[in-house]
Amino acid sequence: MVSGAAYGWLLLLFGLCSSVVNGLSVFDRRDDADKKYSQTSYLVTNLPGLTENVPEEHIPLMFAGHLELHPENQTNYFFWSFKQDDKGYVPKSNRTIFWLNGGPGCSSMDGALMEVGPLRVNRENKVTYNPGSWHEVADLVFVDQPVNTGFSYGSIYTHELDEITWTFLKFMEEYYKVFPEERDNEIYFAGESYAGQYIPYIGKRLLDYNKENPDKKYNLKGLLIGNGWISPNEQSMSYIPFCREAGLIDEHLPSWSHLLRKQEKCQNIVSRIDSVFSDDKVHDFETNSDDCESILTSILSDAKKDGNCINMYDYRLTDLYPQCGSNWPPDVHTVTPFLNLPEVQSHLNLVYKNKWRECVGRVTLNFKARNSLPSIHLFNDILAEIPIMMFHGDKDIICNTMGAQNMIKKLEWNGARGFSDAAPVMDWDFNGTVSGFIKLERNLTFVNIYNASHMVPFDLPELSRSLLDVMLGNYNITQDNDKITINTYTLKRQWEEQQKQNAAPEQDDSSDIDEEKPNPTNEDTPTESNGDDSSSSSESENTATGNRRFTRIIQLLVIVVVIWSIYVLYASYKSRPQSIIKTNGRLSNRKKIVQWADQIETPDPLQPTHEPSFIKKTLNRLFGVSRGHYSSVNGVEDIELGENILNNVADDFIITSDDEYDEGSPTSSTDLQHGSPHRQPEHPRNAL
Ligand SMILES: *[C@@H]1O[C@H](CO)[C@@H](O)[C@H](O)[C@H]1NC(C)=O
Ligand SMILES: *[C@@H]1O[C@H](CO)[C@@H](O)[C@H](O)[C@H]1NC(C)=O
Repeated sequence: MVSGAAYGWLLLLFGLCSSVVNGLSVFDRRDDADKKYSQTSYLVTNLPGLTENVPEEHIPLMFAGHLELHPENQTNYFFWSFKQDDKGYVPKSNRTIFWLNGGPGCSSMDGALMEVGPLRVNRENKVTYNPGSWHEVADLVFVDQPVNTGFSYGSIYTHELDEITWTFLKFMEEYYKVFPEERDNEIYFAGESYAGQYIPYIGKRLLDYNKENPDKKYNLKGLLIGNGWISPNEQSMSYIPFCREAGLIDEHLPSWSHLLRKQEKCQNIVSRIDSVFSDDKVHDFETNSDDCESILTSILSDAKKDGNCINMYDYRLTDLYPQCGSNWPPDVHTVTPFLNLPEVQSHLNLVYKNKWRECVGRVTLNFKARNSLPSIHLFNDILAEIPIMMFHGDKDIICNTMGAQNMIKKLEWNGARGFSDAAPVMDWDFNGTVSGFIKLERNLTFVNIYNASHMVPFDLPELSRSLLDVMLGNYNITQDNDKITINTYTLKRQWEEQQKQNAAPEQDDSSDIDEEKPNPTNEDTPTESNGDDSSSSSESENTATGNRRFTRIIQLLVIVVVIWSIYVLYASYKSRPQSIIKTNGRLSNRKKIVQWADQIETPDPLQPTHEPSFIKKTLNRLFGVSRGHYSSVNGVEDIELGENILNNVADDFIITSDDEYDEGSPTSSTDLQHGSPHRQPEHPRNAL
């Protein structure tokens, strides 16, 4: 104990030196630049349940908040990012995945809290850990967009896909002002459903940007689209055959002939589109997909199971009619109240605290994209440069796997149409179980996933993370007669294999040390923070250097806090702690410090492990704060940020709580809920 503390002090002194040398220059720069670009103001230090339910070594380093993009119309995008957990089974990569949910108008907090993010929300409104989190293999950034979706806000609405791309590029520009050390990371986009429109559009725009700005290229590496809505009319042609094959409908359905007439009408539209596909003009009969989409509406209203509607996102399930799936997944009912807790909104550093709803009807209504070609038109250009993966849970109706495969059959990319005969259908074996099949050729990968819904990562978190292994070629191939199998494994299994291999020959050189990350060995920590001092120039470690700079800021703050604490401790012999708080005047300072204490407390390998507990104890003693639960902060937050500043503006344009469509007339309510296509565009268009 004693020696531990002494060691901590040594480290602290060491940190002081390095901070003075390096950390201070960071502060200088930040003062010069704008305060709004400081990472610390985006730090998420706590959430309900975080320290109780999430294993200490898995508590992610998180940032969240608003980035102002267009001051002239108050466009602010909200993001929540989770830095890769390098205490897991995989060494830290230089990889960033931007995740987008669909709608249009559905929040990417679905992705963060129900799908690929490290946290999920339980019935007590507390976070728990998602063992399939993608943040073990990449940094994750969840962005609420377009404007007025989720926590993003502004005085305008978006109508076309071009606007999506401009604003997203602006978002990236602002994001990398806050996190410049990540600017050269490998970038992937991933998302779901209507993001099958956003992602190719943004991807294409980034590739164009790279050509226009050869010195400022984004390192875009690939796109992953889950149950994507890519070619609306074409995909709608699959509803009848798909539902029939799934045994949901047959020719005895009363409305069967009615359905067939709709199908025929849609077929005519699709043929018309095919005949002009390559003229690259925007034709109304293509951008308006109402007729084709109405096929699904009809199916859902006729094909009832026990009087209930089939859940259009997972046909194994039912839902009330006419919601037909918008009450699903059940986590909507925990995530919604969670994100509306004042405490949570404070922790997420919201500038404007609007009411969170999974999908915002007005965004959907405004976003018709009537002058935007469906994203299928961009695939050829994109695939010439980077890979795209399309993955489909096979129990989804709305963006079903059959429609996607038919679409690919017709698609021309990289010099040929569809997958060639040479591209075999391969089994995908994940950790010993055949879990789907894969086709892959000429930069396009198609993955069909068995027993999964519209939200694959919701159903199968660990398997969904392994999609990245498929994308990155991190698999082995086995062949049995004609059957080719792609084998991927859980991270744990991968790590164990690695260990075996390492053990077998003899110890290699130092690079293997990284593989031992899973043991949360505190001993590594000093070595790491020592080592960086001399080698921070190494270019190969851009991210690491960035993190170290951040570390130094933390270190410096730690030192300031320690010195201050000692002073305060001394002072507290004479006066009560509360009086210190009061006379300290600026509440916001207190909050920051408490935040830092919390930050320090997490066993981040960036941090020397010994001195934090000392500081924490000191702080806790002073403030009477119990471990990891800073309830006092919440009260402070409101005062500090002065919501009123924004409230004046906000009433003019924020659409959230008051005249909420969902709470309006029953008819429009259902239509809108359907319209949520992580979730899809279809019903609102029909109805309104
Ligand atoms: C596929 O993507 C790679 C980059 O990953 C690119 O170099 C190549 O030209 C693309 N095209 C084909 C046909 O593979
Ligand atoms: C899918 O579900 C069925 C029925 O529940 C089950 O028999 C089958 O083993 C499952 N397949 C996979 C790959 O999980």
